[in-house]
Amino acid sequence: MSSYNLTAVILAAGLGTRMKSKLPKVLHKITGVPMINHVLQALEQAQIQRKILVLGHGAKEVEEQVGVSVEVVYQREQLGTGHAVLQTRPLLEKCTGPVLVVCGDTPLLRGETLAELIEKHEKGKQAVTVLTAQVENPYGYGRIVRQGGKIVAIREEKDATMEEKKITEINTGTYCFSGPFLVEALDKLTSANAQGEYYLTDLIELAVKAGLNVESFILEDSRESLGINNRLQLAQAEKIMQKRILEKLMLDGVTIIDPDNTYVEAKVSIGQDTILYPGTYLQGDTIIGSDCLIGPNTRIVSSKIGNNNTIQNTVILESQINDNCQIGPFAYLRPGTVIEEGVKIGDFVEIKKSTIGKGSKVPHLTYVGDAFVGKKVNIGCGTITCNYDGEKKHVTIIKDGAFIGSNSNLVAPVTIEENAFIAAGSTITEDVPENSLGIARGKQKNIINWVKKKKD
Ligand code: UD1
Ligand code: CA
Repeated sequence: MSSYNLTAVILAAGLGTRMKSKLPKVLHKITGVPMINHVLQALEQAQIQRKILVLGHGAKEVEEQVGVSVEVVYQREQLGTGHAVLQTRPLLEKCTGPVLVVCGDTPLLRGETLAELIEKHEKGKQAVTVLTAQVENPYGYGRIVRQGGKIVAIREEKDATMEEKKITEINTGTYCFSGPFLVEALDKLTSANAQGEYYLTDLIELAVKAGLNVESFILEDSRESLGINNRLQLAQAEKIMQKRILEKLMLDGVTIIDPDNTYVEAKVSIGQDTILYPGTYLQGDTIIGSDCLIGPNTRIVSSKIGNNNTIQNTVILESQINDNCQIGPFAYLRPGTVIEEGVKIGDFVEIKKSTIGKGSKVPHLTYVGDAFVGKKVNIGCGTITCNYDGEKKHVTIIKDGAFIGSNSNLVAPVTIEENAFIAAGSTITEDVPENSLGIARGKQKNIINWVKKKKD
């Protein structure tokens, strides 16, 4: 492929009116990644060196999202797809190789498909090769008009006759043009149609009429062609892409008990022999090791999870868990948490921005915030690190081997030294030295026969 000098033009200036959204259409996410990034990734896979992005509505937001890997051209007024490509003409003038044109709103197209399209185009020396698809419901798409089997035109829904509307072969909005043909032909487009727009699709008829060679390439899997114009299509695309991700994971050795109830975003990676139970939702840049049991009903966002961990009914955000840990059920790990090896975090435990050292246990009903917990620490049921004084957050340090009795309050800033022991029910406001007992509660008094006397 790389022997051709490949350029791609990506059309993404439209408002996306039918999305009914403040957000530019191409920034709507599918499997956690903006649509435009899916398109750019496919171009990357097809080894396209030069990418020219046409932006208009929400240009600034889209530019921020795509970064510096693309050249940007502005289309100030959205006068149609032909007009959009026309804006890139100064940049195409020296293009001798093929120019791929894709829409920013067809995120399911695969890199392999684009590579095949380019190859077919180059072999046949066409003026243009159109990527088409056979679909059940062609409504809204441009129809492929053929004569004697040869493609002769593309007719938009709004301009189609009753007969043409019955055609089920559609234009995917993806084309491979000969650069010199495109540069020359763009000038000839007019807006004499039902929408008063400059249609890029008119170049097909133009080429045919000029006696040039025009071909089509029919998609094997028509689902790749799904164009996202509204939120129904957004949900359909999500489903299709989700299926792709889960199938790949399964083939790579991950067990997914119920793929219809498991969600894994595009950037997530999972090691072999990990099992995902239903209701698992893995998002962002999450990395999960091998031999883990995840779920049921667990959400993990942008976190790094090691090997051989069991995580049930838990929410984990921007945290790190090393190997051999047991988390949940019903734990909540908030950003900045680091759980070292062999730790147990049990039910109804919330941990925020804290480190829990190797082999420590926080088995139930506990809040740990802004704390450094050492190795082999046991934190009893109902312990609270009182980290907030109403104005500022303070740090709690619990060193190796310490034992925190149940229902203790550790009022930060405070340090519990190595192997110290906190009596249950204590409110600790001062540091506790190593190997010492910290006890801070009212002394018990028994009033003998108090109940009996009261009754008398
Ligand atoms: C277009 C095609 C149609 C095809 C369909 C595939 C035309 C005239 N029609 O229709 O044949 O079946 O895609 O999904 O090309 N855009 C601009 N500037 C504009 C207009 C559009 O950049 O002035 C961009 C949009 O942001 C979008 C893409 O071009 O990413 C397609 O535009 P859209 O309005 O969605 O075209 P369709 O009506 O879907
Ligand atoms: Ca579209």
